[in-house]
Amino acid sequence: MLKLAVLGSGKGSNFVAIQNAIVSSGGILADKARVVLVASDNAGAGILDHARAFGLPAEALPKGAFKTKLEPEIEQTLASLIRRSGADLVVLAGYMRVVKAPLLDAFPERIINIHPSILPAFKGLEAWKQALAAGVAETGCTVHWVNAEIDGGDVLGQERVPILPGDTAETLHARIHEAEHRLYPAVIARLAVELGKA
Ligand code: GRF
Repeated sequence: MLKLAVLGSGKGSNFVAIQNAIVSSGGILADKARVVLVASDNAGAGILDHARAFGLPAEALPKGAFKTKLEPEIEQTLASLIRRSGADLVVLAGYMRVVKAPLLDAFPERIINIHPSILPAFKGLEAWKQALAAGVAETGCTVHWVNAEIDGGDVLGQERVPILPGDTAETLHARIHEAEHRLYPAVIARLAVELGKA
């Protein structure tokens, strides 16, 4: 079993897709992975409500701490939480913080992220809006290893998504989310095997 610690700041739809792939019979992650911790920098985040509804450990980090010079300490706290959970892999799912040295050094080559573009195109915030503004015919999503460079680590998997006539930021974002919900569990299933856990 690959043990996952999931970090998110928002809705948590990718977390739900991963957890559904674990708990559904015949799910791509059934018998391959298990979520051991869900943590958020936002106590009001939907991802924590989803985690509780699934009966999983849900932890909120102290409010506002990231805006102060305490950030390295908070990352240390997070690293300790994750270590205590026994997680093998840290899964960023809409985690809106740049991961810094304390966490990166605690889990070298063990943190992954999902980004709503075909990297290296459209790094950074609201990548689907960047793609729309650029007038490209397709965009998509990428799962990648996390390193010190924002959206810069090695690519683990990608799914392309067409941009259709009449698309708005909302319709395109929704289509990318659907692709993310397929791609993230599939990449984690592959990693479970590659890391010798399944
Ligand atoms: C996703 O679009 C992901 O690509 C980005 O943040 C969003 C998280 O959405 N990193 P959700 O919270 O999983 O619904």
